[in-house]
Amino acid sequence: MVGWLQDTVAIVTGGGSGLGRALTERFVAEGAKVGVLEKSPEKLAKLEADLGDAVVAVQGDVTSYADNVRVVTETVERFGRLDTFVGNAAIWDFSTKLVDMPESTLDKLFDEMFHVNVKGYLLGARAAVHELVKTGGSVIFTLSNAAYYPGGGGPLYTASKHAVMGLVKELAFEFAPKVRVNGVAPGGMITDLRGPGALGLDEVTIASVPLGDLAKLCSPLGVLPEPADYTGHYVLLASKKNSSTATGTVINCDGGLGVRGLAEVAGGLDL
Ligand SMILES: NC(=O)c1ccc[n+]([C@@H]2O[C@H](COP(=O)([O-])OP(=O)(O)OC[C@H]3O[C@@H](n4cnc5c(N)ncnc54)[C@H](O)[C@@H]3O)[C@@H](O)[C@H]2O)c1
Repeated sequence: MVGWLQDTVAIVTGGGSGLGRALTERFVAEGAKVGVLEKSPEKLAKLEADLGDAVVAVQGDVTSYADNVRVVTETVERFGRLDTFVGNAAIWDFSTKLVDMPESTLDKLFDEMFHVNVKGYLLGARAAVHELVKTGGSVIFTLSNAAYYPGGGGPLYTASKHAVMGLVKELAFEFAPKVRVNGVAPGGMITDLRGPGALGLDEVTIASVPLGDLAKLCSPLGVLPEPADYTGHYVLLASKKNSSTATGTVINCDGGLGVRGLAEVAGGLDL
């Protein structure tokens, strides 16, 4: 069977673990080749061992424009074109409240969160856009439930994901009509998502948080998805045949947090 992304080429940032790794596997399964920009050499070595010639693995940092240019150049050199740029690498603030941020780290902390979560996407889009124009391709950014509601992070993570909402809309306007720009807003999942070094959280992962219990409490669907459960939304947006009219939009697929209203989840449909 021909995949939805047959003979296309994508770049995924942060493709070494979690959602980015699941996306890379899914895009390959749909017939695409994938360039991955990732800071962890160990994760990249595993990715190459598992997926072989279907990927080009580039070790680098999304906050560096030169590294973003490098992944575009190496991907196009190897695979001949670029159809989709997925900005995905990010860090989480472990829901650190403003008053709990030590005053001495405020500057450093803000810069670290926004440089990875917002500047990284901006630099990636800038580095990729000329190749995307050639194929009539698209950009997809990973947002979060935190792009819509408080409580999925502290003010820095929530503001950074709201900022990405702004990037989706502004870049969709600026890159039209040749390049579509959209986003996907997943909810919680157990991954290797780390925190900022400025808070000493760069070795701590979201896997240490009881997300399963939270999902039962807060999500109308009541389940904690796996990263792979979110990948279909990206495939849809990346597929020109199936999404040619979608630009400036974000697929909110966080399990229905926004329709919870004032009702207790436990009082939901009982058929
Ligand atoms: N895990 C969740 O509960 C959750 C919920 C909603 C949204 N998200 C979003 O999903 C996306 C993927 O996160 P994940 O949960 O899969 O985490 P993850 O840490 O497993 O994956 C992110 C990858 O990005 C890499 N990375 C981090 N900083 C980098 C940098 N500066 N340069 C290059 N690579 C870098 C990491 O090494 C890692 O491999 C993020 O945008 C995150 O905000 C996650």
